[in-house]
Order: sequence, then structure tokens, then C-alpha cells
Amino acid sequence: MFDTQTPEKTVTSDTLKFTARDVHVYYDDAEAIKGVDVDILDKTVTAFIGPSGCGKSTFLRCLNRMNDTIPICRVTGDIRLDGQDIYDRAIDPVQLRAKVGMVFQKPNPFPKSIYDNVAYGPRIHGLANTRADLDVIVEKSLRRAALWDEAKDRLDSPGTGLSGGQQQRLCIARAVATAPEVLLMDEPCSALDPIATAQVEELIDELRQDYSVVIVTHSMQQAARVSQRTAFFHLGHLVEFGETSHIFTNPSDERTESYITGRIG
Ligand SMILES: Nc1ncnc2c1ncn2[C@@H]1O[C@H](COP(=O)(O)OP(=O)(O)OP(=O)(O)O)[C@@H](O)[C@H]1O
Ligand SMILES: [Mg+2]
Repeated sequence: MFDTQTPEKTVTSDTLKFTARDVHVYYDDAEAIKGVDVDILDKTVTAFIGPSGCGKSTFLRCLNRMNDTIPICRVTGDIRLDGQDIYDRAIDPVQLRAKVGMVFQKPNPFPKSIYDNVAYGPRIHGLANTRADLDVIVEKSLRRAALWDEAKDRLDSPGTGLSGGQQQRLCIARAVATAPEVLLMDEPCSALDPIATAQVEELIDELRQDYSVVIVTHSMQQAARVSQRTAFFHLGHLVEFGETSHIFTNPSDERTESYITGRIG
């Protein structure tokens, strides 16, 4: 007899992108993440959900060492990307962030032209030899972020002159321009209208063919639409983690059920 349901992916070292073990994060003495273990799979969209203040952004920032930029923040535990300890002294955080790109909740274009925003990463990482090569990367990245049609005639205009939703798509174009292996997205659609949201969700689905994507979202519908795996955080703990369809239809923990049915949040 064949099972018609999609089987749970077999986890091998090939399909594992990140492994995190016993991760704790402190802001001064306040413990924001209280011992989290997570496996993030390659070619998969993982959604982080949970009430405000439970530590989703804090944990996400551990994965590309963005917490290093917050002086009072301290991270302990073991986090590996492709088996390599990303907190090892030998790791250059700038190189790490080219591999593990990030899109923030508030769009934050650089005070540069649209073209230069997208070209920034490829330039500093030497990804293009000629201006023509760079033009190709910029166009491809803007197309992937569903911004090309609106931006192609104003590539020399400042990125900050775009609308909020366009700025967010510009930031997505900037993040994908360095061809990252992992894309971290912290509520990337909260400033977008439904059309742009649908475009970004489509993009996320497309990126999954090549990359691992981790998305923080407050929208249960969005988590259900775009992710294959969902992690539910609560008060600094990872309460439940598994197949998205399972988490939304048959959660094991009472707190997960309360959250997804709207009783806590
Ligand atoms: N830069 C910071 N300095 C001090 N405390 C912080 C900082 N950033 C986050 N925290 C604290 O860490 C805890 C987790 O915050 P975090 O931003 O990770 O939550 P979140 O789940 O992303 O919430 P939201 O859904 O509102 O974005 C909160 O108590 C928050 O106040
Ligand atoms: Mg957050």
C-alpha cells in the first residue's frame, strides 16, 4: 500500500542547513532565549511563529550573528551551518552574512540609488567582473523581488524615494543579490499590501528550490501558505516544531493550540 501523504523528509547531513543546540541569549541579565534546539533544513521554508516578545527575532539574529551588533547581547550554545560552528573565531561575520542574508521588518534601504543598493553586496564580495555582469545581477535580483517593472526606468533614483512596499522589495533584491544559501526574513510583509505580499510569498516559494528560508510571521495564514515546517516560540522557549500541516491541524502542545486558535497572543 502506498501512503498518499507526503512523507516526512528524511533528515540527513545533506538536507540539514543549520543545527542549533542549547542556545541561550541574554540582553544584559535578561534571558530572552532559554535553551533552544533547532534543525533547519535546506530547500525548505521554516516559519517562526509565537506571541510578541517571545524571542523570534532574537533567535533569528543568532543565525547570521546579527546579535553581535547589539553590545548588551550575549549568545551561548552551539550553532552550526553546514556542520561549521558559526561562532568560531575563524568565521568572518561579514562573509557569513553574505551566505546567510537577512530581510528586516522595517525596510532599510541604504541612502544610495536603487541600482547601488542592489549592487552593494556583489561589489564588496567581488561577484561581478564587469559593469555588464553587475547589470545582469541587478536586473535578475530586482526581477526576483518583483520590483523590476517599477524600478527599471529609475535605477539611478534614491532607494529611499520608493514607497514602503517597494523599499521592502528593494531590500529583498539586495539580500538575494549575493546569492545567499539561507535567507532570514523577519516579518518581511508587514509593510506590504496584499498584492506585494502575494508577490513576496511567490518569491519565497521560488527561493526554496535553491535555498533555505526562515521567515518570522504573525500571520498564521502566511505561515500555512509558505512554510513546510513551523516552529512555535513562547516566552523564550521553542515549544513545538514540526511539519506545518501538523502544527496547524494537530498541535501536540496546549500552548501552540491556544496561539493558533487565537486564545493567546
Ligand atoms: N536590543 C534589545 N535590547 C534589550 N532587550 C531586547 C532587545 N531586543 C529584544 N529584547 C528583548 O528580548 C525579548 C525577545 O524579543 P524579540 O524582539 O526577539 O521578540 P519577538 O518574538 O521578535 O517579538 P515581536 O513579535 O514583537 O517582534 C523581549 O523581552 C525583548 O524586550
Ligand atoms: Mg520580532
